[in-house]
Amino acid sequence: MNTTISPISGSRALPPYPDGWYGVAFSGDLRPGGVLRRRLMGEDVVLYRTRRGLTRAVRPYCPHLGAHLGHGSTVEGENLVCPFHRFAFAVDGTCVATGNGAPPPRTGLEHLEICEIDGIVLVWWDAAGGPPRWKVPPVMADGFPAPIRRFHRLTAHPQDIVENTVDMGHFTALHGYRSARIRELDFDGASMRADVVTRRGFPPLGALEFCFVARAYGLGVNSARGVVPSLGLEVQAFFLQTPTDPGELEFRALLALRLTRPRRPKLLACPAAWLATRVIGPTMWADVREDFPIWNNRGYLRRPRLAGGDGPITPYRRWAAQFYTEADAAPASRIQEKVACELS
Ligand code: FES
Ligand SMILES: [Fe+2]
Repeated sequence: MNTTISPISGSRALPPYPDGWYGVAFSGDLRPGGVLRRRLMGEDVVLYRTRRGLTRAVRPYCPHLGAHLGHGSTVEGENLVCPFHRFAFAVDGTCVATGNGAPPPRTGLEHLEICEIDGIVLVWWDAAGGPPRWKVPPVMADGFPAPIRRFHRLTAHPQDIVENTVDMGHFTALHGYRSARIRELDFDGASMRADVVTRRGFPPLGALEFCFVARAYGLGVNSARGVVPSLGLEVQAFFLQTPTDPGELEFRALLALRLTRPRRPKLLACPAAWLATRVIGPTMWADVREDFPIWNNRGYLRRPRLAGGDGPITPYRRWAAQFYTEADAAPASRIQEKVACELS
């Protein structure tokens, strides 16, 4: 029996949601005139794009009589129109018309802060309802072909997904890389930057050096820019992990590759990069998929029993703690809960 683990009493504690920016849609899924319904942190959010292309995220319930704007509302010009009594709301949220011509009441929709980066629509979420505390810069560089995109529903927590960046042990044990080490690690406010060098198998060429710089902007957004020097292969990826309900998460990703050698005329470089993205890209995505069963079933240990070769898990968790503004800051442990059940 492990006497160093403290049992947790009471009902199952759910992981809190970390503050931050979260991807809620691929831009291409929200066309001008489109309305989308999304889950974010246990609530519905309604996204819409006006005919001129302005994007908005609003709370779902119409202030008139409570119709859900994600079920049947329409975009008419620059306004969002509720299906129930056709109240219309301008892009600043103000109610500007009613369906029967009566003067609109002084009311409006509650907006969520929104930004659109590299073809992803992001919404700011803050436990205390505060404004955005940082920005997410564009992460996908020019000169790459259109990325492949991926979408998965997971039962995971975003902190675990970003933690993989600094979990050096899992690169060899789970992914079969030959080695992995961090050359540099920086924390700067809401940002983390890890410069990693590893050796990954590229059949039939064998294990080749693969260097990448991973960045995170909060726990909902991270990216990687990598190179296989001996092949002149460059890769860039954008990952967005968005809690939808307790323990549930939507995982969106963009991935693009290009070959910088041999030098080709631009006319040939573009098709080569497009082909590399669609042929090699899925094999690199398969690496990420290897993490899914772990993420989907992992518990959070407040005091993990770390060993040599794990990487800087502890500094990472100190950095990650800033994103929880709730009193009980750390995600609850499924494993500790199981232990609690066994001990009680
Ligand atoms: S509930 Fe939306 S217009 Fe009446
Ligand atoms: Fe991984």
